[in-house]
Parts: sequence; C-alpha cells; structure tokens
Amino acid sequence: MKVRVQVPATSANFGSGFDCLGAALDLYNLIEMEEADGCRIEICDDAAVPADETNLIYTTARDFYARCGRPFPGLHIRQWNGIPTARGLGSSSACIAGALLGANELLGRPCTLDELVDLAAVAEGHPDNSTPALLGGFVAAAIDGDHVIACRCPVPEGLGFLAVIPDFELKTADARRALPDTVPRADGVYNLARSAVMAMSMAQGRLENLALGAEDRLHQPYRLGLIPGAEAVFGFFREQEVYASFISGAGSTLMALIPAGRAEELSAAARAFLDREGLHGWQVLALGPGQGAAVHVI
Ligand code: HSE
Repeated sequence: MKVRVQVPATSANFGSGFDCLGAALDLYNLIEMEEADGCRIEICDDAAVPADETNLIYTTARDFYARCGRPFPGLHIRQWNGIPTARGLGSSSACIAGALLGANELLGRPCTLDELVDLAAVAEGHPDNSTPALLGGFVAAAIDGDHVIACRCPVPEGLGFLAVIPDFELKTADARRALPDTVPRADGVYNLARSAVMAMSMAQGRLENLALGAEDRLHQPYRLGLIPGAEAVFGFFREQEVYASFISGAGSTLMALIPAGRAEELSAAARAFLDREGLHGWQVLALGPGQGAAVHVI
C-alpha cells in the first residue's frame, strides 16, 4: 500500500500565546510513503533536508511502528517541501504530523486522530504547531502529561495572513535558548490576559482585538535581536495598519494578520519595502487558512 499525505504550514504563538496558540495555513508539504526494504528517500525539490535514516519523516514513522509493536521493514518516502524550513512556519511539525498520519494509515489506523495529536505534540515538545497541522483552523492547546487538550475554531471569515520570510533560518532550539528561565509575574499576567483575548477574539471574529491580543512580553522581546530587519518590518506592518503582527513561531518569519481583501495590495507594498530596505532574498507570501492534514491511499 502507498499513501499520500498533505500537511499544512502553521503559525504558532500568535504573539501572546507562547506554546499554546497556532493556526494552519494554506501552504503544504506533500509526502508519499510505502513500506520498502530499508530506507529510500527522495527529496522532490531543492529543500536541504536529509535523504537518509536521519530524515524526520523516516525517524518519526519508524518510532511509531515501534510504539505500535509492529515490525518496521523500512520506507520509501517521496517528499515535497512547500513549507520553507526553519522559518517559524511549522516545517518540522509538518514532517512529524505527516509521518504519523501516513504511518498510521499504512498500519491500518491503530491510533485515533486525537492520539496522533498527543504523539505529535509530545514529539515536538509543544502543541502549538503540531495540533493545528493535524486539525486545521485556529487552535488553543495545552499538554497535560502526554495528552493534549485542544480547542479549535475556524479562522474568522475575511482574515488573511501576510508572511514576510527572511532569507536565513532560525532553529527553534536556538530561539528557545534566547529566552530567560524566569519572568516577572507582571509579564506573565500581561501575556495571560492577552492570549485569552486573542483566543476568544479569534473564536468570535473580533478582529479589532487582535492587535492587543498579539502583544507579548514572554518571548518576542528576547528573540527580536536574532532577526535583523524584524524591527523595520514590524514598523512597516504598523504603517500599513494591519490587524496585528508577531514573530511566527520561533521565527524567522514575521507574520501580519490582515484583511484578506488587502492581500494583493499589501504583498506588493511589502515587496517594495523589502527592496527599499535592501532585504533582498526575503520572500512575501499572502496566505489563507489551511486544511488539517489529510491522508489518501494512492
Ligand atoms: N512555541 C514555539 C516557540 C514554536 O515559540 O518556541 C516553535 O515553532
């Protein structure tokens, strides 16, 4: 049997919701998987990802077989990487979520989708990319032991995303190392209030609250220095009066929440701005909400 998995990019944190809020985007990785003797991996584009036994899809699927107590013969994987790697758009979550969904299908679905959500979040260490990657939409999620409690809603009608993607990678581990171990209580309270407002406002379509909901003191102030050019891009977003803006996940992508109807105009303005700033090689993508990961037998 051979399966094909489509799995979306995600934008995590939404500013204040560090490690707990995220949304699926309409930018996808495709993965084909079938059992084979040993490891055979084809990277079907120019993405710089490993094509050997260290490949994240391969290792995740292998571990899933072991967890299910099933012999692992090896896999033939074909992989298309629509999601730029190490840019805060959930590329590794997409590999983990896609591998779990594909392997589960190959094994005759021993796990429910909820169980895959749990496994993906535990593998990642936080649920804010992997959960929307599997479920789609906008998600608020918490890990309780090895279980994820997730609330999901559609992205509000008319809300779009403008991703400004630097020409350099930022590894999540490095971006997490930049964070302090403790924070002042006032900063914790500041973020609690804003992430609650963000979650409720996304659920209720209260777009006027998103700017406040995205304010953050837990991670972005410490990460800005890792993304040269970020301050200028946030300044551009403010000038354009977008709904809200934040570092997407751990970065390096800078995300604006925008009226979907302004996607073309704002993309053109962002490209012109990057040119003026000399930020050549940076990319601008206007995106919409994404579907949760889907698997088909082919
Ligand atoms: N919540 C995680 C972080 C997302 O900010 O480190 C990583 O993509």
